[in-house]
Amino acid sequence: MLPELITSVPGPKSKEWATRLRACESRNVTFLSEDFPIFWKKAHGTNVWDVDGNRFIDLTSGFGVAGLGYTPEPVVAAMQEQAGELYHAMGDVHPTAEKVELCETLSRLTFENWNAGSGKSLLTNSGSEAVEAALKTAFMVTRKPGVLAFNGSYHGLGYGAVTATENLFFRGPFSPQLANWAVFAPYPWELRPNDFSAAEEEARLREKLTRHPIGAILVEPIQGRGGEVVPLGWFLPLLRRLADEFKAVLIFDEVFTGFYRTGKRFACDHWNVVPDIICLGKALTSGFPLAACVGKAAIMDAWPPSDGEAIHTSTFLGNPLGCRMALTALAEMERRDLETRVNAVSEKLCAAIDHLRAKGKPWGQRRGRGLILGLEVVNAAGKPDPAKAGQFIEQMLVRGVIILSGSPQRNVLSFTPAFDLSAEEIDFALMQLANAATT
Ligand SMILES: Cc1ncc(COP(=O)(O)O)c(C=O)c1O
Repeated sequence: MLPELITSVPGPKSKEWATRLRACESRNVTFLSEDFPIFWKKAHGTNVWDVDGNRFIDLTSGFGVAGLGYTPEPVVAAMQEQAGELYHAMGDVHPTAEKVELCETLSRLTFENWNAGSGKSLLTNSGSEAVEAALKTAFMVTRKPGVLAFNGSYHGLGYGAVTATENLFFRGPFSPQLANWAVFAPYPWELRPNDFSAAEEEARLREKLTRHPIGAILVEPIQGRGGEVVPLGWFLPLLRRLADEFKAVLIFDEVFTGFYRTGKRFACDHWNVVPDIICLGKALTSGFPLAACVGKAAIMDAWPPSDGEAIHTSTFLGNPLGCRMALTALAEMERRDLETRVNAVSEKLCAAIDHLRAKGKPWGQRRGRGLILGLEVVNAAGKPDPAKAGQFIEQMLVRGVIILSGSPQRNVLSFTPAFDLSAEEIDFALMQLANAATT
């Protein structure tokens, strides 16, 4: 649904909440200014309403979580039923049937579907923790502490995940506290084919794998927060080959790209490359903080059986409400033909973005795949223009559209909407962006 005319954003109620938040929340969390943010009151489908009653189209789907849209009816129903019966259990002592069913489902959707045997899961509360569980698993398997990760990567902000996140904005402030087990290499980028030769990159990776005790190769098959970066076609097959040769565990971080975001169930399905471990989160539950590290059974069995005390667990592990939401969301995703849906919406969105780009600067290249798309904002010299991207984010809010920027330079407008974004909503949002650029 399209937004009605919005007179002032943030409205008076949002402003009041912002004043109160400023006094009580760590100040690095929420960006608070005269023009930002709005406080959300409710959300449904592709729309969000704020506390002042304004309606917005959300082009982010809440950081890529609500691919099915907000409050999808089957998930809400399952959640309500589960909440009335059991919404907390002892995930690692006396667990629930929901946890079993979720682990079975994750195995079926991943390794069984890839004809790679069965999978075993380690459930976590966030994507960052799923990555850390995967890194610990790789160490259990190989006893080699090194991790090969890639430029532009984002794996989360726990100490382990941030150590493998290349972006200095996140690592830099804590670098004296971080150990030096992560080694970084270039991420060969589809849009810059002339900058990367397969032979040279292979030689570079071989050198790193020879020189360092690398037990894990950790990679996003398509980079999300790195700015919607799709790799060159030879990259993932090369990593698979090198991981096998150097006896490293190949970990795909699909926390952002998993569950149809890129137009396939998993991004790695675009290249038919099977990892040893896949990390999943965000859309998994359609909105509950639950994520998963899913590995080939033989790999996961590097963990010793629990003797009554687990060496890797947490209080809320396998929360039954989250498991039930995940089961329902996954069933809903599999019931619908989301490949077709996502690719059709992507085609329309790409055409609308390209129509805008045809007007020239400040628009640069379009990036991404499926419904994880980016649009570069550049200055007159064609260089990244993060300040202008920031202005667009604020201007779009007044025009009824929620959009965010990403990439290390923060100049890429990021489009990760719900899969049911309508043609009308696409036209409206892109028209607003065109108008914002001319005012
Ligand atoms: C690829 C990737 N991995 C890991 C994470 C971290 O997930 P979380 O924010 O749930 O810790 C993110 C978050 O954006 C992500 O995009």
